[in-house]
Amino acid sequence: MSFDLVLFGGTGDLAWRKLIPALFQAHRHGSLPTGGRIIAVAREGLTTPEYRELIRSRFQDVALAKRPAPQEFENFARALHYLQLDLTQPEGYADLASLIRERGAQTVVMYMAISPALFEAAVRGLVAAGLNGKGSRLVLEKPLGRDLASNQHIDRVVRSAFDESQVFRIDHYLGKPSVQNLSAMRFANALFEPIWRREHISDIQICLAEELGVEQRGAFYDTTGALRDMVQNHALQLLCAIAMEPPVNADANSIRDEKLKVLRCLKPWTPESLTQWAVRGQYTHGVACDRPVQGYLEEEGVNPNSRTETYVAMRAEIANWRWAGVPFYIRTGKRLARRDARIVVNFREAPHALFGHPTSGGNRLVIHLQPKDGLELHLLVQGQGQRGAAYSASALTHVHLDLDFDKRFGSERVGAYERLLLDAIEGRLNLFVRSDEQEAAWRWVEPVLSAWDQDELPLHAYAAGTWGPSAASIMIAKGQSRWSEEC
Ligand code: BG6
Repeated sequence: MSFDLVLFGGTGDLAWRKLIPALFQAHRHGSLPTGGRIIAVAREGLTTPEYRELIRSRFQDVALAKRPAPQEFENFARALHYLQLDLTQPEGYADLASLIRERGAQTVVMYMAISPALFEAAVRGLVAAGLNGKGSRLVLEKPLGRDLASNQHIDRVVRSAFDESQVFRIDHYLGKPSVQNLSAMRFANALFEPIWRREHISDIQICLAEELGVEQRGAFYDTTGALRDMVQNHALQLLCAIAMEPPVNADANSIRDEKLKVLRCLKPWTPESLTQWAVRGQYTHGVACDRPVQGYLEEEGVNPNSRTETYVAMRAEIANWRWAGVPFYIRTGKRLARRDARIVVNFREAPHALFGHPTSGGNRLVIHLQPKDGLELHLLVQGQGQRGAAYSASALTHVHLDLDFDKRFGSERVGAYERLLLDAIEGRLNLFVRSDEQEAAWRWVEPVLSAWDQDELPLHAYAAGTWGPSAASIMIAKGQSRWSEEC
C-alpha cells in the first residue's frame, strides 16, 4: 500500500521522542508498508539531508536496543523528507499539495503533532489545498481543547472538513499492549463476566502514578494541570475499558458506542460531590528518582504563584445496572513515590463468615499496566505451617497468582505509538477516540475544571516522592476503602 505520512510538528518534541523512533521500530519490524514517505513539516528552514542528519543525531538519545545500526538508519532515512511550512501562512500548503500529488499515494495521513492553537489554521490550509479528499486521514494529538467549549470548537472545524471516519484522535494509552490486554482479558475469557458487576465488586481503583515531575514542559503543564493532562483522556479511557459492556462486534464503532455509554452514565458532579470526592494537590520539594528535587513552583516555566494541580484523586460513579453504587477511584500525579500505572479491582468479602471475621478483605485483581505489565489475583488460602486451627481466620494467609507479561511476551510486543501509527496508516479506528466520546469526557470534567480554575476548593501540598496529599487518603476512607499501596 502506498502512503505518505505528513508529520506536522516534525521538529517538535513529540516527533523526536516518540513518533520517529516508533516509525523506525515499525520499519525494523518490517511492519511499515514499504515505499511510503514520511514528510516532516515544520517552520525551520531545513533541507531533507539536513533533517535526516538531525534525526540521525537524535537517535543517540534513544535507548541502545532501539537505536539503528548505520545501515539500518540509511535504509530508514530514505523514507524521510522535509518541507518547510509556516502553518499560519495559507500559501505554503500548495507546496505540500504538489509534493503529495507528485507521487499520488493512495493514503495520506496527516499527523498533527502541534499545539491545538494551530489546528484551525492547519485544517483550513489543508482544505484550501484540496488535501482533505477521501484518501486523507487526520491524526490529532491531545490536548483537544482546554474545556468543553474549545473542544467543541476544534471539533466543528475538523468535522467541517473531514468525515468522522477520516479522523484519528490519539490517546496513546489505548496503544499500550497492557491496555489492549484489558479488553482481551474481559472479552476473550468467559471467567470474568459473571463477577464483573456490582454484586461482586466493592470498588475499582485506577492509578496513574508518575515519579517524574514536569521536566521541560513546565510552561505547557502550568496552563494544563493533571485533570486535563491525564484524567480527561487516559484515566477515563481506562475507566471505559474496565466498565463497558461487551461490544456486539470488534468494529471501531461498536467498541466506541459502548465506551460512550459509560461516559454518558458517569454521575454528574454537584457542588457537594465536588467538595467531598475531588482532591487536588501540588508537589513541593522532596526526594524522587533517588535525589532531592525541587517543588513544582520552582520548576522552569511555572508561574511561582501557580495554583495548577499536579495531582488529582477523585471518585466517579457509573449510574447503570451493572455498576450503580460501585465507586471508581481515579488517582494520578507527578512526583509520586514511584512510576506505577495499575487498575485494582476489589471484590466483596465471602458472604458467609465460615472462617470467622475478619477474613481481611476479599479477593483482588491487580492489572499492572506499567512499568510492570501483568495480572495478579490475590486469594486467601490456608497457609502451610500456620499455627491457627483449621477453619479459623488465623489459619488464612494472602497469596497471589502472578502473571508477568513482560517475561512471557518480552520483545514480541509492539509499542504504543508504533501500534497507533500503523493503525492510522492502515485505517483501523478501533484504538482511536470518537468525537462524541471526547465531548462526553470533557462534559464530565468541566464542573471540576471550573471549580478549580476559580480556585474555589483547596489545593493540597504534598512532598515530592510521596503518594500525594493525606486529603486523598481521607477521601477514600470515607468510601470504606484504601489506596492499594496502603493495603
Ligand atoms: C501524556 C501527558 O499524555 O502522558 C504527560 O501529557 C504524561 O504529562 C504522559 O507524562 C504519561 O504517559 P506514559 O506513557 O509515560 O505513562
